[in-house]
Amino acid sequence: MKIGITYNLKKSDSDREAEFDRPETIDMVKKSLENRGYKVKLYEASSPLLFYSLALDRPQFVFNIAEGKNGSHREAFVPALLDELKLPYTGSNVLSLAISMDKIMTKEVLKLANVPTPNYKVVRPNGHLSLEGLKFPVIVKPPFEGSSMGITSKSVCYNEERAKIDIYKTFQKFKRPVLVEEFIEGAEITVGVMGNFPPHALPPMEIDFSSLTKRELKASAWGIQTYKFKTDYSTKANYCLPARMPEEMLSKISKICEDAFIALRNSDIARFDLRVDKEGNLFILEVNPLPGLDPEHSDFPRIYRLMGKTYEDLINDILNFAIERYKIENKTETENNHNN
Ligand SMILES: Nc1ncnc2c1ncn2[C@@H]1O[C@H](COP(=O)(O)OP(=O)(O)O)[C@@H](O)[C@H]1O
Ligand SMILES: [Mg+2]
Repeated sequence: MKIGITYNLKKSDSDREAEFDRPETIDMVKKSLENRGYKVKLYEASSPLLFYSLALDRPQFVFNIAEGKNGSHREAFVPALLDELKLPYTGSNVLSLAISMDKIMTKEVLKLANVPTPNYKVVRPNGHLSLEGLKFPVIVKPPFEGSSMGITSKSVCYNEERAKIDIYKTFQKFKRPVLVEEFIEGAEITVGVMGNFPPHALPPMEIDFSSLTKRELKASAWGIQTYKFKTDYSTKANYCLPARMPEEMLSKISKICEDAFIALRNSDIARFDLRVDKEGNLFILEVNPLPGLDPEHSDFPRIYRLMGKTYEDLINDILNFAIERYKIENKTETENNHNN
């Protein structure tokens, strides 16, 4: 089978390319597929020739890891193009990626599906600024960024005055509405969910910062996964799989992540970031429908390693879930056409 990989290559350390993939990651994805007998071709998603190359080559399946370059809903760009070309691809569709790129919309969908997420307010530029009803401390977040862009130690605010300063700065930097969320003190958990009929959560992974030195902890904003933490210190944290919690709590975490995956219309793979407070209340912070696949630094490959599986297993599992999904969806479509 001929497989195409669509990706955005990281060419610099600029903020704009923070989520793009290193050449090592793209190479590992390619090798993982080649090792299982696929013929693989690479497609740089920033290229103006992307549409033509795909239209001419028509790979039989596309392994999509492209983050997209411009616009609030940039992750949905390549899937939209693949839909137009009628090429099947791995991972979530346009709607799901567009919703998940928007942390505010994600929270609204989760609330409708009764999936717990921290209380929040949305503050719009030139809008009325009221944080009434929110419990402090709060965290101020730009709603369309990943990889903790825009989240620093200063994003956690202990009173309204401080929050207003940070909200103003976030407006200035991102020129977008700002998400102000109650800050949940407690364990940091990330959960991989895979498959479709139904989706299954992998064991929840706890990210424990206690092994960091005081200086490192301060730089990583006392255990918030800031961009600095992810780039400089992530290999120093202690990763526990499963998370150090009673079995009953682990099942509860898995269940809410599977519910969230379905509510957000995710396909094949997604990773959820959660916090658990001291009373054992669970909160989903966000979803990553295109979770990082950096073989060294990303959480999803780390979860696989801790499960005793290889990177090659992960890449091929994603592909196989997608192939199975297309088979089932096409079968249902054909049956419906016959019945009409
Ligand atoms: N409401 C919150 N309570 C506690 N910590 C939070 C909260 N929101 C974000 N964080 C911290 O900031 C990190 C990044 O936030 P997240 O919403 O996952 O955005 P992203 O990873 O897309 O930048 C989280 O992993 C967590 O450490
Ligand atoms: Mg996150």
